[in-house]
Amino acid sequence: MLEVSGLTVRHGQLEALANVSLALAQGETVAMIGANGAGKSTLLRTIAGLHRPAAGTIRLAGRDITGLPVHARVALGLVLVPEGRRLFGSLTLEENLLVGAVRGRPGRWDTARVFELFPWMAERRSRPTIHLSGGEQQAVAIGRALMANPRVLLLDELSLGLAPALVQRLYDVLPQLLEAGMSLLLVEQDVSQALRVADRAHCLLEGRITLSGRPRDLSPVEVEAAYFGLTAGPT
Ligand SMILES: Nc1ncnc2c1ncn2[C@@H]1O[C@H](COP(=O)(O)OP(=O)(O)OP(=O)(O)O)[C@@H](O)[C@H]1O
Ligand SMILES: [Mg+2]
Repeated sequence: MLEVSGLTVRHGQLEALANVSLALAQGETVAMIGANGAGKSTLLRTIAGLHRPAAGTIRLAGRDITGLPVHARVALGLVLVPEGRRLFGSLTLEENLLVGAVRGRPGRWDTARVFELFPWMAERRSRPTIHLSGGEQQAVAIGRALMANPRVLLLDELSLGLAPALVQRLYDVLPQLLEAGMSLLLVEQDVSQALRVADRAHCLLEGRITLSGRPRDLSPVEVEAAYFGLTAGPT
């Protein structure tokens, strides 16, 4: 569904991503884990069209989308839930959801369906989102992305700044998205959460993938070494 190959991205002098390749099949969940500044957001933002890569290609369902602007990617079903939610605080909850549909694909998602997923939203639909809690705002950001009927959903640190119970509630909705046929590429600093839900995981360190595998095949020692850049094993 999504195929990234040889992606290199620079922020000025800094090489934020170096020759990163990964693939995401339909209905699959792939997690990118990595420490602060590893390049996780840069990867998702580049896939979404917010950064232009210095090298590499991005394909969606076989089509080369590397040169397409953000809105054209959204129209093809590639949608980002950005780090930090980025809602329009003065707009109501419902208006924020509707923003997501503007450039989206036609499909099954509408406000009623989002309210089924997050029932508490219905009665707060007319409230400005600035009055919502962090967890609620994150749910609205997910709902907004769903309104575009994504084929591939890019999720950047759902857990950021939220209490564990709230994080769990957000993660609890992911299976329903997968049942609907979506593919998920998620980025997390919360490694255990990411490894619980992912079919496959990659660890990113200073812009390079240092470890890849299925969560059950990755040992905690290996993951820690890849995450922090330690040399594994006896020397
Ligand atoms: N727009 C930008 N301009 C310049 N440098 C940037 C920009 N965005 C990110 N960087 C730098 O690129 C590197 C990777 O940043 P990125 O935000 O992708 O990391 P991250 O893994 O998402 O980190 P975090 O866990 O803190 O969100 C960092 O060194 C960061 O300072
Ligand atoms: Mg980030």
